[in-house]
Amino acid sequence: MNKGRCRAAILISGSGTNLQAFIDRAARGNLDVDLSLVISNRPDAYGLERASHAGIETACVEHGGFTDRESFDRALAARLDEHRPDLIILAGFMRILSPWFVDHYEGRILNIHPALLPAYPGLDTHQRVLEAGDHWHGSTVHFVTEQLDGGPRVLQGRLPVNSEESAAELARRVQAVEHQIYPEAAGWFAGGRLRYRDGCAWLDGDRLDEPIVMDFD
Ligand code: GAR
Repeated sequence: MNKGRCRAAILISGSGTNLQAFIDRAARGNLDVDLSLVISNRPDAYGLERASHAGIETACVEHGGFTDRESFDRALAARLDEHRPDLIILAGFMRILSPWFVDHYEGRILNIHPALLPAYPGLDTHQRVLEAGDHWHGSTVHFVTEQLDGGPRVLQGRLPVNSEESAAELARRVQAVEHQIYPEAAGWFAGGRLRYRDGCAWLDGDRLDEPIVMDFD
């Protein structure tokens, strides 16, 4: 890691409410991470506007212009590496990353996924939780490996499911949880408390065989 504060780049594809949570924490002086760059793969991602308003440099690398996944990822990495990021924060970045990209930033990519992994990897998690009649749902911060939504889990925010609610309402509640847990976990990394080693997540020197769980209403 570079000397000094942790330099982070955030990758987005859409609205960027998680990005906003990082911006808001930074504005309150409550984030040990320097948000140096936001990149979207979609030019119309609202998160780019959020970043610009906050004075963060933005870029767009459109995936449509590349013939294969790794070519796109190499172009993305070229932009990222200009900023020498210590940490890559995936915040609603809806692209599967190539093995090359994951290896290039090994142990330095965090993702947030809207489910209590290993349950419900992939898409439409809220609808699937409601259809299954689950009592608990939430979100997981994890290190990114080649396995989709399968890297070592760090922190989960858990909340009870209300069987009467719609998938949209449940999604809104889960996102509110994400806005709490993602800056928290990134802060652990920035402070040197959280690391990836030997394929595992380590917090304060202890291997996390299970993620830390925070309960919400
Ligand atoms: C978040 O809920 C995040 O968990 C999810 O996309 C949303 C982005 O929202 N990510 C994934 O589904 C990745 N598999 P945001 O743009 O408002 O932060």
